[in-house]
Formats: sequence, structure tokens, C-alpha cells
Amino acid sequence: MTTAPEIVLGVTGSIAAYKAGDLVRALRDEGYTVSCIMTQRATRFIAPTTLQALSERKVHTDLFDPEDPQILHTAIAEHAKLILVVPATANIIGKFANGLADDLLSCILLAAKAKILIAPAMNVHMWQHPIVQRNVTMLKRLGVRFIGPEVGKLVCGYEAIGHLAAPEEIVRMVKQWTPPNPPHPLVTSTAAQRPKRSQAASKSSRSSSGKRKARR
Ligand SMILES: Cc1cc2nc3c(=O)[nH]c(=O)nc-3n(C[C@H](O)[C@H](O)[C@H](O)COP(=O)(O)O)c2cc1C
Repeated sequence: MTTAPEIVLGVTGSIAAYKAGDLVRALRDEGYTVSCIMTQRATRFIAPTTLQALSERKVHTDLFDPEDPQILHTAIAEHAKLILVVPATANIIGKFANGLADDLLSCILLAAKAKILIAPAMNVHMWQHPIVQRNVTMLKRLGVRFIGPEVGKLVCGYEAIGHLAAPEEIVRMVKQWTPPNPPHPLVTSTAAQRPKRSQAASKSSRSSSGKRKARR
């Protein structure tokens, strides 16, 4: 049984969604367990299969899962130590700030008692819109943390604010806010010095079982 802190990563429909894969890998290398939730729009930018392979967990995209007997949004919200929304659209920020719950991720955000960290990514004019700024301010007042957006080259052509914070900065903030578990005191020093997860995974993939794929 794993004791790694459980992170729920919500991925929304931004052009920056492809960076979610790097974030999953980096978080797992730090010892976190990551479960990904994708909005329907996010699946237009990156395939759930990618995040499923990298997280080695089922990726949920639908509030209603006939194969899952539990009430998905409350069960996921209850087990999360930290919820990340990366990248976060203006839409999910607006829904959360206004208490709207019309899909799996927005339901989880409202049902959760966990800490929540949001990394927005969007066009500069969307980000600077007073309504988006009002929503961000409202969520900050409620204890939700934000990282970024940064100034950078945006897909819409502007060199402006709206760029997703770098995955390594997000990981740094996650580690500060929700540190990974220290190695168990009974674990031998040899085991404690095991290579980070990516190397361990590629070793196991070379084993005869062939059950797991190496994370690239
Ligand atoms: C090519 C493309 C890129 C987009 N990138 C962003 C983005 O970076 N940030 C954003 O807030 N919306 C972006 N949008 C708009 C969102 O996809 C749209 O608001 C959608 O409804 C968001 O749904 P979700 O929040 O449920 O994922 C983009 C749309 C398109 C077509």
C-alpha cells in the first residue's frame, strides 16, 4: 500500500495542457501519487492515454462513470491531499469562483477540503479582464493559492502575461506546501538511496514481466 501524498491534477482546455505530462512525471519523481482529471475540452489538447501512462492511474474525464460504483467527485475530493489545476482556463476559474459544478473537476473543487493550487494559462486580454481578476481575487480570499501566469510568448502571438508557470516552479511550490513523505525509518539506507522513480520504472520495464512501460 502506498503512503505517498495523493495529488489530484485537474487539466483543463488550454493550449498549455500538453505540459501536464511533464508535471505528472516531475511530481512522481518527487514521490507523489498523481491522479488526473481532465475536462472534456482538455481531451481536445492532450489524450487521456498519455496522462494515464505517465501517472499509472485511470484518468477520469466524466462525472458519470457507469463502471465506477462510488460517487466519483466526492470520493476523489476526500482522498486528495492537494488539488492542482494545471493549466487552469478562465472558464474553470470562473466556475469555481462562482460555485458552478457542471462537470467532474468543478464538482471535485467544490467538494474538496484539500488545499488547492491553481496555475492559470490564457490569452493576456482574458487574464487581464476585470471579471477574471475578480474571480482570482475571490478565490485567493478563500485560501486558494495561485502560481503564475508568467510573462512569455503566447500562442496568440503576444509576448505578454498569460504563460503557464514552469512545471519545475509548480513542483517547488507543491513541495513547500505539501512536502512528500520522508523515507520510512525502517527502510534500509540502500533502499532509501534508490534512484528516482523514472529510473526505477525503466529498470522494472526491462524485467521479464513486461507489465509496466518505461516512462519516457
Ligand atoms: C486552440 C485553443 C486554445 C485555447 N487556450 C486557452 C487557454 O490557454 N486558456 C483559456 O482560458 N482558454 C483557452 N481556450 C478556450 C477554452 O478551451 C474554453 O474556454 C473551454 O470552454 C474551456 O473548458 P474547460 O475549462 O472545461 O476545460 C482555448 C481554446 C482553443 C480553441
